[in-house]
Amino acid sequence: MAVPRSEYLSSVWRDGIFNDRVVFVTGGAGTICSAQTRALVSLGCNACIIGRNPSKTESAAASIAQCRPGAKVIGLGNVDVRSPDSLSQAAARCVSELGGIDFVIAGAAGNFVAPLSALSPNGFKAVIDIDVLGTFNTCKATLPYLVESAKQYSGQGGRLLAISATFHYTGLPLQAHVASAKAGVDALMHSISLEYGPLGVTANVIAPGAIGGTEGMARLASSESLAQKAMVKAIPLGKLGTVKDIADATVYLFSDAGAYVNGHTLVVDGAAWRRQGATAVGIDPGMQYPNFLLDGKISDNVKTGREGSSKL
Ligand code: COA
Repeated sequence: MAVPRSEYLSSVWRDGIFNDRVVFVTGGAGTICSAQTRALVSLGCNACIIGRNPSKTESAAASIAQCRPGAKVIGLGNVDVRSPDSLSQAAARCVSELGGIDFVIAGAAGNFVAPLSALSPNGFKAVIDIDVLGTFNTCKATLPYLVESAKQYSGQGGRLLAISATFHYTGLPLQAHVASAKAGVDALMHSISLEYGPLGVTANVIAPGAIGGTEGMARLASSESLAQKAMVKAIPLGKLGTVKDIADATVYLFSDAGAYVNGHTLVVDGAAWRRQGATAVGIDPGMQYPNFLLDGKISDNVKTGREGSSKL
């Protein structure tokens, strides 16, 4: 059964804005990247999604193709982003079957929860290899096609996007390996924006916060519902993000509306990351965000703070 469009795309976009364009997506069978791909395909794109698991990748491609009659979506399994050769072959196959590559989403990522004391050099390396080297390999394999696309569509093709995160802005316990990797991904994309901007290619990053229903949440979030509720409450917008939030941001960046956005990190997290580092500042043990703001009770421990009513 086709996934309802309202689950992955807002109604504000016009059908056909991506007609004749092709998107190449690593990790395209994952929850976030498949929603991004579905949104682009709905609006006219054809797609090539890449993954390690052949049956998962092929069935995701078949499912995505259902969102628009006539859509061409190919799923290439047995492609590990750590292998430059297999990525080059996948990119060449995408071009020979679909005619080119206009947009790229480098979405493949590796993650597990572990303290530094339980991280072996190989465990750290596995995540760096998938995220940083994998993104580099994806960029190397596809940039020549993106340069062609930028020429062909004069500023309306040639868009590169990496999926990153926000926890490296502040650091996060149990995620030293992933935080290090995502910092590398961001730096790589920013450098590409400078090197390829003059050729008409844009390179940007989307940094999702906690997105409901994803593999990442299932892997990383606490299994305690109380802890999960507290986590959601700490998000300034008071709710988890959705895959649609990330898909809409992607459509914006790849559309004509995003043509002048280059070297940017678009954080889509309800401002959650701005709260990440704050729990140690002026917090009494009983203080919970956002209650102390709503109650107007600022910590007794804040020497320079204002007592009494908050300004909310
Ligand atoms: N804690 C500590 N170390 C871990 C670990 C964990 N939970 N899981 C894996 N590792 C270590 C392994 O022990 C190994 O190190 P060693 O050789 O010193 O023992 C190293 O990581 C590589 O593990 P391996 O399973 O061989 O790697 P892989 O390349 O097959 O898998 C991972 C890559 C580790 C990222 C794996 O978690 C994975 O494939 N994840 C699926 C995709 C994913 O993470 N998606 C992200 C959703 S947010």
